Amino acid sequence: MCGIVGYIGPNSPVPIILEGLRRLEYRGYDSAGIAVAGGPDGLSLRRAPGKLRNLEAVIAANPLQGTFGIGHTRWATHGRPTEENAHPHRDGTGTLVVVHNGIVENYLALKQELIAKGHTFFSQTDTEIIAHIIQDELELAGSPEPDSKRTADINTSEAVIHSQPPTIPLEEAVRRAVKRLTGAFALGVLSAHEPNKLVAARMGPPAVLGIGDGEYFLASDVPGILHHTRNIHFLADGEVAILTPQGITLTDFAGASIPLKIQRIAWDPIMAEKAGYKHFMLKEINEQPRAIRDTTLGRISLDTGKVFLQEMQITAEDFRNASQITIAACGTSWHAGLAGKFMIERLARLPVEVDYASEYRYRDPIADPRAIGLLITQSGETADTIAAQRELIAKGSKTLAICNVVGAAVTREAQGTITTNAGPEIGVASTKAFTAQLTALFVFALHLAQVRGTISSDESKQLVEELSRIPGKVEEILRSVDDQCCQLAKSFSTARDFLFLGRGIHYPIALEGALKLKEISYIHAEGYPAGEMKHGPNALIDETLPVVCIATKDPNDPSSVLKYEKTLSNIQEVTARSGRVIAIAIEGDDTISQLVEHTIHIPQAPELLLPVLEVVPLQLLAYHIAVRRGCDVDQPRNLAKSVTVE
Ligand code: F6R
Repeated sequence: MCGIVGYIGPNSPVPIILEGLRRLEYRGYDSAGIAVAGGPDGLSLRRAPGKLRNLEAVIAANPLQGTFGIGHTRWATHGRPTEENAHPHRDGTGTLVVVHNGIVENYLALKQELIAKGHTFFSQTDTEIIAHIIQDELELAGSPEPDSKRTADINTSEAVIHSQPPTIPLEEAVRRAVKRLTGAFALGVLSAHEPNKLVAARMGPPAVLGIGDGEYFLASDVPGILHHTRNIHFLADGEVAILTPQGITLTDFAGASIPLKIQRIAWDPIMAEKAGYKHFMLKEINEQPRAIRDTTLGRISLDTGKVFLQEMQITAEDFRNASQITIAACGTSWHAGLAGKFMIERLARLPVEVDYASEYRYRDPIADPRAIGLLITQSGETADTIAAQRELIAKGSKTLAICNVVGAAVTREAQGTITTNAGPEIGVASTKAFTAQLTALFVFALHLAQVRGTISSDESKQLVEELSRIPGKVEEILRSVDDQCCQLAKSFSTARDFLFLGRGIHYPIALEGALKLKEISYIHAEGYPAGEMKHGPNALIDETLPVVCIATKDPNDPSSVLKYEKTLSNIQEVTARSGRVIAIAIEGDDTISQLVEHTIHIPQAPELLLPVLEVVPLQLLAYHIAVRRGCDVDQPRNLAKSVTVE
């Protein structure tokens, strides 16, 4: 998500870090910062909200000097994109700084622990906690207590504070600190007390080390350093790297040394931005396990089955008294909303209306202050969604946003936001943002059910456990069906029309499959409720029409089994008219395979979570068809990533 660049070597670190951050800006761009040390001013820091050019202007006005440093370009997860929330973040002594990519799940508990020990915090970020935890480890190891005046002036970008040197090396403090963190992190750390040393650690988000000629680099991703070196070590989970002008050493979190595994990267810079994938869309499809996992981080407890939604001004009382949830969204986000309706109604027994945001205000909606508005939007800047939100607010509703961009317009007017944590989505066709939205909706539905008392703790626990297994199942699908989708694309890329069918919660996924195909391959495609076929569309079926049928079932859920049986009849109606069926079915379902020409199998999951799995093969099918047709997959004609006009 965020971009990190670190440098240690004979050259000035500032231009190298800024250039690297520029090449990583596609990963996130709501604020940026840099820290250098080893110069006449000791440890110096500059940060600025907004694009990197704002940071460059700050540095031009107030230059930095040093021999090594780290920089960061941020895509916010905790805290708005302001200067105080920009990285690097300092510890309480102002002598060490941290840049971080990821999410610390237990940051609130750690923050309380540290506040009780006298620590003061200046940002809303989880990253600042990491700096303080490292400081805490240095103090526990016997470093002198900092003086009381130390925190008085460190909340300025220029702060330079000197305290007593610590008694354990920085890398040891980092190793001890990371053991106290739960969640995901790629870290870069430097300390004014340890000239010429950068420490990095990874658990989750990517981090790479670059080995140059007498110079060494740290980055969140290869493009940040590729113009300096092609010799790369991909930091693995559980590794700590110590970069000095003499070279790089590696250890595990326990301190045991690990050899470097240097690979020579052949990617050109554009390929590197796409992590070696041919298109951003394919990269983002493959990022879905991470996006889904990050959307649940810090929000679910596997031990208790409880769901936590932080930073919400809508109270449990508001949710208990709510008369309904009114969802407004556009396009793919609207499809997520339709699936969300099934989740919320089923789990929380609360009526849900789903509107196209572009239509909402034109139907003169009935005012109901007890209705809670839910805006679903990847960008948070879609003009239609903002207009629907304002209409909801004017009618007296509180509004909640499910959004991928912290601080975006919709979140500024909402009383609460569930951030999807999918990271920047560059392909115009939404993929990882969609599965992250479905995940956020499931978490929200569970939360509503828990505060409204419509779910037992056993069922909660079971569903939370099932949710935690979804990223692994998506990984399995990505491994097992990509080749099959590529083969299917060969057979079907010349089709003129496609139909996508589903029932119940699978119907929105049929709509999403059709939208993905039409927007990137320009093939006409329609999504339809499977049971509606006999009321008209059956007339379209002939031997040239591919019909994608979602025919999954949760055997433990009688309504899901019933729906599946009805869908089987609908499939037979299609095959009887020579339609060419591609079915999405559960592993081991041979009934379907015997009925239809092609079956794509996905793993079993509870009914309400199946949509997250079902959509993945549909995304891959659309992708491979579009590639075969020579379409511009990442930037389809006539479309924009963020639609800021009504
Ligand atoms: C399709 C797609 C669009 C968006 C729609 C809403 O792949 O991405 O349909 O979903 O334009 O955008 P957001 O979610 O940013 O409000």
